[in-house]
Amino acid sequence: MIVVIDGPAGSGKSSTARAVAHELNIQYLDSGALYRAVTYLFLESEQSLPKFFESLYSVQLTFKFDNEFQVTLNGERITEAIRDPMVSEHVSRIAAMTKVREYINALMKKTVQNDLYIADGRDLGTAVFPKAECKFFMIADLEIRAKRRHQELNTNGIKVSYSEVIAEIKRRDKIDSTRDNDPLKQADDAILIDSSAFNFDE
Ligand code: DC
Repeated sequence: MIVVIDGPAGSGKSSTARAVAHELNIQYLDSGALYRAVTYLFLESEQSLPKFFESLYSVQLTFKFDNEFQVTLNGERITEAIRDPMVSEHVSRIAAMTKVREYINALMKKTVQNDLYIADGRDLGTAVFPKAECKFFMIADLEIRAKRRHQELNTNGIKVSYSEVIAEIKRRDKIDSTRDNDPLKQADDAILIDSSAFNFDE
């Protein structure tokens, strides 16, 4: 069984999915983290795109939910590295590529087969898990999303200004929702939650 939450950056979907997973003692899958991991790999590898696509199938990308969503690449922990502003800057462009989406989608579909999952992303309810038992689409006003993301980055010791964060979110929203391949979109059967006026517990 799978429950999905889609929505733009900073809408609260990851924190909510993580909290629900803790509460219900089920697995959590952070699909954005997987796109970030592939972006990290691309930035590190300095390969041409065709070589990079080929190399995807020989790397060891593993992940597990243990209090937090942990990601390793060829045995190296990259849980923190994938939140680097450099990765955030490039992730939407890399995630728009068909071959990258095919790779991540196959990985996710295989992963969720044998357990109960709550997963968050952009296209999970529309493209990846159209038959998910329960679908949510979370949104929030741009300024509120930027404030939350700014605070989260600062808490994690990543120093960026609020204006950089808002510009970054705007840019990613645009790429994520206008790309040809499975853009960010509410599924017809998803429940819409606007978290703008809510604090986390609400
Ligand atoms: O959730 P996040 O901000 O960490 O996601 C990083 C990027 O990954 C986001 O800008 C778009 C991409 N993404 C995607 O294309 N499809 C998903 N299901 C999840 C994330």
